[in-house]
Amino acid sequence: MDAIVLLRDDHKTVEKLFKQFEKTGDEDTDERRRIADQVVEELTVHAWIEEQIFYPAAREAAPDTTDHILESIEEHHAVVWMLSELKGMDAADERFKAKMSVLMENVRHHVEEEEKEWFPDVRKAMGRNRLTELGERLEAEKPKAPRDPLATPSAGSR
Ligand SMILES: [Fe+2]
Ligand SMILES: [Fe+2]
Repeated sequence: MDAIVLLRDDHKTVEKLFKQFEKTGDEDTDERRRIADQVVEELTVHAWIEEQIFYPAAREAAPDTTDHILESIEEHHAVVWMLSELKGMDAADERFKAKMSVLMENVRHHVEEEEKEWFPDVRKAMGRNRLTELGERLEAEKPKAPRDPLATPSAGSR
């Protein structure tokens, strides 16, 4: 599969989970926990494959995107720390929904920048064959990715 199509599919999966979360009420703490756990896993794996494989390949193929990529890594940094906090937080805690809301704002902004501001340049620079080969590498890496958000390189925690 084309690497950018694969990453955009991940973005869609996460957006669906966000919408589900937004439909929950303050009494639905079990449901909020279940959705948040899925969000943590999806975003941790996604950030991992981007940082380990896609971002370095994109930077090499399209050096003009370097500033965007460096900014994206800093956005990942903030996101993975929020994910690690959500993981250990009681869903009934009054700060839980607020933390999820801030996470969603951050991720939506980040996804918008990836999809609108620099993925198109990477697509142009790489072409279809390289993107397909890269997509296969991303897919193969997914099952091997750690599920701990702080294991992501951008966390800077180890
Ligand atoms: Fe990203
Ligand atoms: Fe992404």
